[in-house]
Amino acid sequence: MRGRFITVEGIDGAGKSSQIAHIVELLRSRGLEVVSTREPGGTRLGERLRELLLHEPMNLETEALLMFAARREHVAQVIEPALARGAWVVCDRFSDATFAYQGGGRGLDLHKIAQLEDWVHGKLQPDLTLVFDLEPEVAAGRLARAGNAPDKFEREQTGFFARVRAAYQARAANDPKRVRLVDADRLPHAIRDDVEALVRGLLQS
Ligand SMILES: Nc1ncnc2c1ncn2[C@@H]1O[C@H](COP(=O)(O)OP(=O)(O)O)[C@@H](O)[C@H]1O
Ligand SMILES: [Mg+2]
Repeated sequence: MRGRFITVEGIDGAGKSSQIAHIVELLRSRGLEVVSTREPGGTRLGERLRELLLHEPMNLETEALLMFAARREHVAQVIEPALARGAWVVCDRFSDATFAYQGGGRGLDLHKIAQLEDWVHGKLQPDLTLVFDLEPEVAAGRLARAGNAPDKFEREQTGFFARVRAAYQARAANDPKRVRLVDADRLPHAIRDDVEALVRGLLQS
């Protein structure tokens, strides 16, 4: 039986990495093979492209094209083979992030992004997408407390993240069955309960 594809989205500092660990644990406790991966990245080439994408200034369309180049490699080398052998794939960001960051955040024409999406993963869509939703100011405070050196995206102002957040909300409104908003401005265990309920729903479907 084909595996399932879960993607986790939200602005930087929303709590994605923290909750992904719980999702992976929950699925493995059910005896499932789980591939936990991320974008941009997930392959050797993709991780090299990630370095460029997170640190090198570039034209907006170049940024979108490199995102989808890394994604093509990831889908072909990792995601499709895993799903085909029955593994579950949990991915930290996928194409919704390109619509939200390069589209919503930076203003790239959404139709161009949709064309690249169709080219790179025409028939493949996540079975479930969790969007961790919270105020950019709260996310920025978390990142500041964590104290890691910010990348090119994390250095953006709150106005940018407000547009990214709104774009994610619009994706959820347009495809409410697949894209589920999770209130991320709560204690981790409360968020975890909601996340587990959504993943259990997928396990039972
Ligand atoms: N629910 C939460 N409340 C407060 N702080 C959190 C919460 N979830 C995560 N954090 C902290 O916020 C920071 C960013 O979380 P992280 O999971 O790395 O976010 P993301 O992967 O979405 O960028 C980390 O220092 C993490 O410990
Ligand atoms: Mg993270």
